[in-house]
Amino acid sequence: MKKKFYNANIYRNDTATEMVVEGGKITQIGTDLPKCDEEIDLGGKLVLPPYVDPHLHLDYVYTLSELGQEGAGSGTLFEAIELWPQFKKTLTVESVKRLALKGIRDEVSQGVQHIRTHIDVTDPNFTALKAMLEMKQELKDIVDIQIVSFPQQGMYTYKGGRDLVEEALKMGADIVGGIPHYEPAREFGDKSVHDIVKLALKYDKPIDVHCDETDDTHSRFVELLNALVLMEDYGKRTTASHTCSFGSADNSYAFRMMDLFQKSKMNFISCPTENAYLQGRQDTYPKRRGLTRVKEFIESGINVAFAQDSINDPWYPIGNGNMMNILDNGIHLAQTMSPEEIKTIFDLITYNGARCLNIQDSYGLAVGKQANFIVLNESSVYEAIRKRVDVLASVRNGNFLFRRREPEYEIPLDL
Ligand code: FE2
Repeated sequence: MKKKFYNANIYRNDTATEMVVEGGKITQIGTDLPKCDEEIDLGGKLVLPPYVDPHLHLDYVYTLSELGQEGAGSGTLFEAIELWPQFKKTLTVESVKRLALKGIRDEVSQGVQHIRTHIDVTDPNFTALKAMLEMKQELKDIVDIQIVSFPQQGMYTYKGGRDLVEEALKMGADIVGGIPHYEPAREFGDKSVHDIVKLALKYDKPIDVHCDETDDTHSRFVELLNALVLMEDYGKRTTASHTCSFGSADNSYAFRMMDLFQKSKMNFISCPTENAYLQGRQDTYPKRRGLTRVKEFIESGINVAFAQDSINDPWYPIGNGNMMNILDNGIHLAQTMSPEEIKTIFDLITYNGARCLNIQDSYGLAVGKQANFIVLNESSVYEAIRKRVDVLASVRNGNFLFRRREPEYEIPLDL
């Protein structure tokens, strides 16, 4: 059966207003396309490929409420990492699935269809990993989930952590993770970066590292990671998440490194709400805001995407899975709002995230791609971001995951 979605304002396409879908794929894009079995009016609204959340901790979502807390203590990264093991002991496969489902529902109901989740594997029972491997299969019709084998308590700080990362890859985790800035000495951080790259090559898996999530400008694991993947020609399959310290690095170092990032084609992920909240805690004033060099990455053609990171967990109390909110915060912190920048601003939560996830072959609004897209409650990019509009509909494989009406007033404002 052929379906035509018409009267659409298609993102990054100045001419087409219609898409024909058949067998779950986009088969035609243009105007005045031939009549189809079913025709759906999108009301002149902006159509984007689905939001991508390329960095989220689904085994942590809603654990803050479970701990009976509404705030997150003093708000430092290291305090949160210390809090976590007490809670981790209480997890069961069922409890992880119950909470993760709430987080997934938050995201999918707001237009996300692709999630990369870091799952803590510094647990010899792999409770969270087992839960997430099941969910990935059970939910594949509504959301694509990639699982990072992530040693939250360190490959070396946690005894046997490196081997647990490897075991998780054998069990089915998709991506190699790490946290070099949390290892107890630089030597061990370096060692973990070498291990990450070796494991990725051994198991033919992509890399996504929690890298330099600190204000300490001496934390430069991104340099080693980039060098190794440059030499192995593995940059396109590698992502450095956070790289907060790079936002504090001096320019002579930063510009030299950005040359090298361009060469390796490594990807970057910034978590603007999370890191604005966590970083700069030891600063007086001026107070740093934790963001890596997002604007300069965009200007240099280095791929960078925004992510949520946390929903109601000890790291960040008020995450809610709304990628528009992430984009809103991110472009303020990165100062990217020129007319040129606005035109492609949604790339930061769509196409750029898709590149981090290496799903470009099936992702996007073009002929031959999967018929996955969302409809925003505005017709232009500028008005959509200015009004921070909601997602009205999410379509997957040509079918609505949900569709809702524009909000209506019971008593309209008389103005
Ligand atoms: Fe994270």
